[in-house]
Amino acid sequence: MRIISTVLICSALMLGSTLTTYAQNDDEETPLTESMSDFNSNLRSFRKALKGEAPDKEAALSKIIAMQAAIQISKLETPEMAKGVEPEEGRALTISYRKDLIETQKELLSLEALILDEDFKAADGSIRRLLAMKKAGHDKYIEDA
Ligand code: HEM
Repeated sequence: MRIISTVLICSALMLGSTLTTYAQNDDEETPLTESMSDFNSNLRSFRKALKGEAPDKEAALSKIIAMQAAIQISKLETPEMAKGVEPEEGRALTISYRKDLIETQKELLSLEALILDEDFKAADGSIRRLLAMKKAGHDKYIEDA
């Protein structure tokens, strides 16, 4: 009886640890989710720096440079979606993904120039375009986005 109980307890523990491992793999951070999350938090800090009566221009500029760096790094990565399809389709998807990120970089360079010129109203329009790029990019390259 004691042997049966021991076997049952061990099996339960092994099943538990296997399920935990699967759950962890599901939420696993990839280099791309890491650089995108970095981009996201810098965008949030950037918007915060522009809020209020006196926008903090220097803080905003340093956040834009950090966003540009995050996108630069993201271009070297491959979306998970491209790994789960036929190689040729995956290659085409990755090329399209990288070209879309080039457009994001162009927008970030325009935004940098607008902040240097202290044209905060036009900067608002640029931020809206960036958010539209985020939605379009995620709809296109993330499964069930
Ligand atoms: C304002 C612009 C953007 C922001 C703030 C942003 C933010 C994020 C965040 C926070 C994640 C992580 C999601 C998670 O871990 O659940 C993510 C993932 C991702 N983003 Fe973006 N993103 C932006 C634009 C783009 C654009 C333009 C593209 C494509 C051209 C793109 C492609 C992706 C992909 C493919 C992933 C999933 C990573 C994977 O496949 O492993 N994102 N993004």
